[in-house]
Amino acid sequence: MQSHKVFTPFEHKSLRLRNRIAMAPMTRRMVKDDGIPTKDVIEYYRQRAQGEVGLIISEGTPIDGLHACDTLTVPRFETLDQLEGWKKVVQAVHEEGGAFAPQIWHTGRFGADPIGPSNHQLPPRADGSERPPVKAMTEENFAQVTKAYAKAALSAKEIGCDTIEIHGAHGYLLDSFLSLSNNKRDDQYGGSWKNRMRFPLEVVRAIRQAVGEDYPIIYRFSQWQVDNYAEIKFHRPEELELWVKELVQAGVDILHASTYDALEPAFPDVSEETLSGWTRRLSGVPCIAVGKVCSNFTLRGAYGEEKDAVADPHPAMDLVEKGEADLLALGRTLIANPDWVKQVREGNWQDLKAFDKSMLKTLV
Ligand SMILES: Cc1cc2nc3c(=O)[nH]c(=O)nc-3n(C[C@H](O)[C@H](O)[C@H](O)COP(=O)(O)O)c2cc1C
Repeated sequence: MQSHKVFTPFEHKSLRLRNRIAMAPMTRRMVKDDGIPTKDVIEYYRQRAQGEVGLIISEGTPIDGLHACDTLTVPRFETLDQLEGWKKVVQAVHEEGGAFAPQIWHTGRFGADPIGPSNHQLPPRADGSERPPVKAMTEENFAQVTKAYAKAALSAKEIGCDTIEIHGAHGYLLDSFLSLSNNKRDDQYGGSWKNRMRFPLEVVRAIRQAVGEDYPIIYRFSQWQVDNYAEIKFHRPEELELWVKELVQAGVDILHASTYDALEPAFPDVSEETLSGWTRRLSGVPCIAVGKVCSNFTLRGAYGEEKDAVADPHPAMDLVEKGEADLLALGRTLIANPDWVKQVREGNWQDLKAFDKSMLKTLV
């Protein structure tokens, strides 16, 4: 049995975790058009909680059926029936001693009826089909989306979720406002950093107001985005500092720094420190690190034909030991190994299965 800080409890506000391992949010597209989590969805999350994961973060779950969603096969977080389905997920995770956070999501520019900071046309999808044009958000859109986020967050609290994660990463709606390549507005939502941060911060404040002071809020952000893996939003630590301090000021409790590789230096010209390390130090709040734990491939490689091999998770786990992260999130390796925590704690990481993309075909 291995003693390592990742296997020790974590507490923040009302959030109590038995260890510092989180399941990273992963879209699986496995429900019917009604958007209700199915028995398999419940079982999929239960299995990871049974495997002693501390915090289960759900797949991105769209906050409305209007613009937030890209396909109908993603479980949504809006109607009473959908929330009833999620409540069963929460109960299953709690029965197994885990904690649960829905990742509340607005796909923005990538939606079926896409909205974003500015009018533009995304390139065709991988299958060659054209995408609908992205429409610049109107005042009415801002009000509707903010309200839908606040409602989803309050619903999460009401159905017993231990915390929520706001999906503010990867080029989806909130993130797209920060990006100069997506946001060409010349009103109070575009231009300077202050203006580009305005809408995501308004959403955070509306959520904080809806859920009250004590309910923990996680915010996930990233440099990269799904249509531009090389995107950089924070060129210098000062830009990151401005952003994370504003998020905390607006009501965020825990930051989730989404990277391909948890160990990669965030600003290599400055130091070897990881994005999670910088974020934690500059913001003063707990931070989740993620990326390539147990894997040799970047996320993009996961969709290729080659087969991955299991890599030693300890260098990433040591980020927690060294104080560069408070929690470590696992994506692909947790799809392959629902019992990851037990296996690694018992010193058997070499027996873990390597992830391969065929594992995405089924949930359980
Ligand atoms: C199948 C799949 C679906 C994903 N869906 C989401 C998602 O819904 N929301 C999100 O923030 N990140 C998503 N990601 C990114 C993961 O949360 C994670 O950051 C990434 O896989 C890197 O971690 P890993 O190397 O441990 O897999 C997804 C990744 C995969 C492999």
